[in-house]
Amino acid sequence: MNYDKIIALFKDKFDQEPLVIRAPGRINLLGEHTDYNKGFVLPAAIDKAIYIAISENCSSQSHLIAADLNDELFFDINTFEKSEKGWTNYILGVIKQIRNSAVTIKNFNAVFGGDIPIGAGLSSSAAIETGFLFALNKLNNLNLDKLEIAKLSQKAENEFVGVKCGIMDQFASLYGQNNAVIKIDCRNLEFEYFPLVFDDITILLCDTGISHSLANSKYNARREQCEMGVSIINKSNGRIESLRDVTLQMLDSHKSELPEIIYRRCSYVIRENSRVLEACDYLLENDLTSFGKLMYQTHEGLRDDFEVSCKELNFLVDEARKLKGVLGARMMGGGFGGCTINIVQNNEINGVMETLKHKYRNEFGIDLKIYITSIEGGTNEINQTVNKITINET
Ligand code: GLA
Repeated sequence: MNYDKIIALFKDKFDQEPLVIRAPGRINLLGEHTDYNKGFVLPAAIDKAIYIAISENCSSQSHLIAADLNDELFFDINTFEKSEKGWTNYILGVIKQIRNSAVTIKNFNAVFGGDIPIGAGLSSSAAIETGFLFALNKLNNLNLDKLEIAKLSQKAENEFVGVKCGIMDQFASLYGQNNAVIKIDCRNLEFEYFPLVFDDITILLCDTGISHSLANSKYNARREQCEMGVSIINKSNGRIESLRDVTLQMLDSHKSELPEIIYRRCSYVIRENSRVLEACDYLLENDLTSFGKLMYQTHEGLRDDFEVSCKELNFLVDEARKLKGVLGARMMGGGFGGCTINIVQNNEINGVMETLKHKYRNEFGIDLKIYITSIEGGTNEINQTVNKITINET
């Protein structure tokens, strides 16, 4: 649902002036499954976002409306339990994190919705978490900064929702900047913006329409396999905290002790970290051809060594790679479905979209959804003025 409708619905239901927050989804250019291994990632916030209209209420119950799902939840902020309705747990999870820090907050009324496609791997869940935490922070004057919001949102997902994700999605949703990707060092959370020049390229996201029900448990299993690699290497080298501390030579010297599958998982992560660093140099030189080659390598690693791809993603990358004007393509995000990300030259864009749609329908009988996306600013408050929307810079 679009921004105007969300505000209108809020006013109609609650007859109050809301605080309005925009929290964007994210793409990731390179650095997949590296965040929870304390490595490097290269995400950006995008034009697709969720909007939250929210205000305090003076009752003992909060009233939460998910406009796009046509669903709602009544609960008391001080006493709720995990809910059967999956969407609510991202919000209850962040409230639980606030409660854990012994801070009291007030019940609220809220309507939220937006245009981040659900299940497409664009991190609608992280946007909901950061958006609500950002909103509750403002409403209750909690004085949390963006980094604290990112960390608490990730914890909410780890502990309340049960997905052992890294911090990339929440960080990107909060720290996004126009036309720049964020290189995040997930070991110390230092970050740096790199320009992505859009003069003659477009970022296309091709949505497989597939979201596997076991994706969360398979994701958690990958994380455990990486941790197992670290603990095996640590038996003879007790100083390793994460795969970030492991080089390919070190890994190879432990090859005989590592189960083959663990070796492959670890080797993918180590190589991916190097690719992110190399890619940043290409961005500075605006060399998107070399950047694109790294994207293909990442896809191959995710497909063959980390094994988080699926036939639909592989098909889309293989077909994109054959087309004139496609500089790079790969599966994006946690995997097992969701989108591919493609960097495409503007003069070939229509042909590329038509060909991929046509081929995907022929192969899988599914209408391929393609999103043209732009890179925009991170989570923030929206000031509603009479004729235009302005986003407060903080
Ligand atoms: C999901 C997780 C992130 C990250 C990616 C894979 O999006 O939420 O933390 O691990 O998968 O790179």
